[in-house]
Amino acid sequence: MTMRTQVTPLESPTGVAVVARNVQRTFNGRDVLRDVNLTVEADQFVALLGRSGTGKSTLLRILGGLDPEYEGQVLVPERRAVVFQEARLVPWLRVLSNVLLGLGSRGENRATLRDRGLEALDEVGLAQHAQDWPLTLSGGEAQRVALARALVREPQLMLLDEPFGALDALTRIKMHALLQRLCARHHPAVLLVTHDVDEAILLADRIVVLVDGAIAFDAEVDIAKPRNRGDASFLALRSRLLGELGVNESAPTPPVPSPHLVRPGSAVLTVPAQSFDSLPNDFDNKEIFQ
Ligand SMILES: Nc1ncnc2c1ncn2[C@@H]1O[C@H](COP(=O)(O)OP(=O)(O)OP(=O)(O)O)[C@@H](O)[C@H]1O
Ligand SMILES: [Mg+2]
Repeated sequence: MTMRTQVTPLESPTGVAVVARNVQRTFNGRDVLRDVNLTVEADQFVALLGRSGTGKSTLLRILGGLDPEYEGQVLVPERRAVVFQEARLVPWLRVLSNVLLGLGSRGENRATLRDRGLEALDEVGLAQHAQDWPLTLSGGEAQRVALARALVREPQLMLLDEPFGALDALTRIKMHALLQRLCARHHPAVLLVTHDVDEAILLADRIVVLVDGAIAFDAEVDIAKPRNRGDASFLALRSRLLGELGVNESAPTPPVPSPHLVRPGSAVLTVPAQSFDSLPNDFDNKEIFQ
């Protein structure tokens, strides 16, 4: 049976942001997601690792409500935002209008929305670019606009699909710091898809590895922040994760389970299903926030 994405209550008393139960997705007769069970807590930062083609983006799209053709059960909050590897800015809309795109028909007056948009741009350090055209931005700036566009929606769940994958190493480090600041301030649940094992360990509270459409590894990262790539516990986890990903490296893999890993509890969480939630379809293409 194919179901559509449901939502948890806006003010969920359960402290849970995502519940995926027995999620399966088939494309052309091929099982891409086989039986995914995942619960993410309300302010948890989860990194999702996996080799190319293992179904990471497929899972993220389902959780984002962008793909209703799955089997199983998915509960997500109403306010969620998706950020992709490309900023996906509309080139004929100025930066501020891109940030506010789709928010125009929710009854708030324009001045209030404009202020919210500027505030979000300020948070990502781009307030001075509000009236610029997207094509005049660098790749890192464009991704910061994408983050501002996510932030302005005050998401309870941020779904990030390799958001820094196309950025140079220095910009990526700055983006890591920015994302950490934003998370500390707004406390969304985050699901970050990445190929970068170091990025996952640096940022996440918990790391999940998807192998062939199923969760093969799921553990909390019990290393104090800020984390240092040179620390023994960091290197041990890195080695362990590379092993899970099937990457050979010369460093020996630590014994299993590693002492700094804590398996999350397996308690079954019950979240009441609410009415069907479709993504907002009020996206417009008018430049209304000059
Ligand atoms: N709309 C679609 N139609 C057919 N096949 C699809 C579709 N979307 C995804 N797939 C297939 O599902 C598999 C998983 O794709 P997905 O994009 O989720 O992988 P991924 O883990 O995100 O990979 P990458 O790390 O390369 O981004 C791939 O083999 C892909 O070709
Ligand atoms: Mg992908």
